[in-house]
Amino acid sequence: MSLTEDLNKFYVTTPIYYVNDVPHIGHAYTTVAADILARYNRLKGKKVFFLTGTDEHGQKVEKAAQEKGKTPQEHSDLMVENFKSLWQALNISNDAFIRTTDVDHIKTVQGIIQMLWDAGEIKKRQYSGWYCTPDERFWTEKEIVEGNCPDCGRPVEEIKEENYFFLMSKYQVRLINYIEDNPDYILPETRRNEVLGFLKNNELGDLCITRPKARLSWGVPIPFDQDFVTYVWFDALLNYFSATRYLAPEAEQAKLGDFWWPANHHIVGKDILTTHAVYWSTMLMALKFPLPDNIFAHGWWTVEGKKMSKSLGNVIDPAQIAEEYGRDAFRYFIFREVPFGLDGDFSEEAMAKRINTDLANDIGNLLSRTTKMIEKYRGGAVPEPVILKDRDLEKKLKAWFDNGSDTGIFKTYDAFLSKLQFNHALTHLWKIISEINEYIAASEPWKEKDDEMLSNILYTLAESQRILALYIFPYMPDTANKIWQHLGHDEDISTVNISKAGAWGGTTAGTKVQKGDPLFPRIDLKQKFKKDKASGTDKTEKLAPKPAAAKGSAPSSQEGPVDNLITINEFAKVELKVGKVLEAERVEGSNKLIKLQVDTGETRQIVAGIGKEYSPEDLTGKKIIVVTNLKPAKLMGVESRGMLLAATDSDGVLSILTPEKEIKQGASIK
Ligand code: MSP
Repeated sequence: MSLTEDLNKFYVTTPIYYVNDVPHIGHAYTTVAADILARYNRLKGKKVFFLTGTDEHGQKVEKAAQEKGKTPQEHSDLMVENFKSLWQALNISNDAFIRTTDVDHIKTVQGIIQMLWDAGEIKKRQYSGWYCTPDERFWTEKEIVEGNCPDCGRPVEEIKEENYFFLMSKYQVRLINYIEDNPDYILPETRRNEVLGFLKNNELGDLCITRPKARLSWGVPIPFDQDFVTYVWFDALLNYFSATRYLAPEAEQAKLGDFWWPANHHIVGKDILTTHAVYWSTMLMALKFPLPDNIFAHGWWTVEGKKMSKSLGNVIDPAQIAEEYGRDAFRYFIFREVPFGLDGDFSEEAMAKRINTDLANDIGNLLSRTTKMIEKYRGGAVPEPVILKDRDLEKKLKAWFDNGSDTGIFKTYDAFLSKLQFNHALTHLWKIISEINEYIAASEPWKEKDDEMLSNILYTLAESQRILALYIFPYMPDTANKIWQHLGHDEDISTVNISKAGAWGGTTAGTKVQKGDPLFPRIDLKQKFKKDKASGTDKTEKLAPKPAAAKGSAPSSQEGPVDNLITINEFAKVELKVGKVLEAERVEGSNKLIKLQVDTGETRQIVAGIGKEYSPEDLTGKKIIVVTNLKPAKLMGVESRGMLLAATDSDGVLSILTPEKEIKQGASIK
């Protein structure tokens, strides 16, 4: 059982961001994730402490400040505002913002390093190693790659000096056991296995936690040797603890002492998992502090399969996207599109499409149809339901909202969010939305002659969306509140308790609905993306991937027919065959493309954009359907001769088509 499960508190953290980077989609991703969890747990009635902040010590900041003719403190004071204003723009509800230059943080770090020194957990040693300044960390001779950092690829410099070391190595076995005994400690499972693999196959070294002041002064002075400072990976990690001492909600802190520690979730990117899973965990062991319940490592965002970088000019500015498309749409998209542990590829066009389908259509239209019908048939007041009139149609829909049931909205959503499966929770909500849409189609209120039955239908529609808004709230707070306003509820959702407000029957008969502006205005995709391309000013040409309908390589582009009907002769031109996948591997540098060797009677190479949904191992040996008479095309420089068939539904689920029974490869499809 988790340590914090039975306490009515929820403590979630983001990494603290280096001040000298401008915030981008990667920073926004973690912070919105933490925000979703924080908002949801507040709805559940938990006492929540949501912490984010900035990491301000170290050589990088010192250098950047020097270049600008500023002190590191002045430089940090300026840069920190970029983060603070972005969090406001994205509607982030953090309870505190920690800066590692806060006096109280520094005091806590000094107290803790002294404790470890007194306990014999720290030793002074001569040290030589290869240092990567951008990552603020040392590498061994074996680890570096041709003079470069194995992580970021930038040059490393050799440094020899005396330093203080945290004796991390002695905790190796204990850490392995801890991770093995606590399956949810590191998630997702693939990352947990990576950490375990690393710990089992390598000898853990000790951790260098200081710098001589002579070389780096921008750190926390250590109390037992005035010539040294500690910084980044010691000072920074301790923020999670120090904040509970001086930034956590005061009353709680005073009353409950250690109430906030340990954290429920540390959310981090996959690149800084080792520092958290290994350095931080062993530091806590040495301090005899409890370990957090969970460290979750999310994937990275690329843009068109490439790492974001200033030099490529493809850095996505979340503030600009939120400004253009709405902050809720952005928050929705980044969590709907990609499972949290996996890498994702950002595309503005894909986002615009989702806004039109999932937001403007599925939910926006549903709400406006509902309020319009209530206006038309009941003068704008939600009618009294006549539950005795419930048919199977109503019963089926209401079953989704049965909080006692394991398949009801609360338990399902709660289970997904407790594992940080943000996209699954959204898929579930959208399944319910489509059920409500189907309910309208099936119940045909516009034809209903029985007055009581019509009242029942209208109530069912209003009430189901009222409840749904509660679950939408953590992801899209503005939208959820608008749904409530349209349905006649004035309360701010952030103040309600989900178990009470989420129970069926919360709408009082007579509540006046308000037909407001559409929740999400539709985007004219053709005009927007065509115009942008023609003007050559917009990033969309660069950002938007080819439409996802056909997942294999496409022939050179052709204008589509005016209508979508083709003759049988036209169809007969397409040569389709059953193929067997002999080999599969990822195309280097792409997280979407997989290169397949397929036997269709002859062996051919196909490149398919299915790498997010399928791994090469899933594919080897599979029988698939292949278009064999496509003109060869190159994808990321790799030749593709043909295209495999796959279907994608409105939830974005992608499935490869396979023959229904065993059939020889090469068989033709007619
Ligand atoms: N200061 C350290 C963290 C110390 S935590 C005690 C640091 N800062 S950072 O600003 O470089 O990175 C912060 C976070 O941004 C990391 O979790 C990293 O994974 C995330 N991202 C940076 N680029 C990213 C993407 N392209 N995509 C997703 N997240 C990415 O590391």
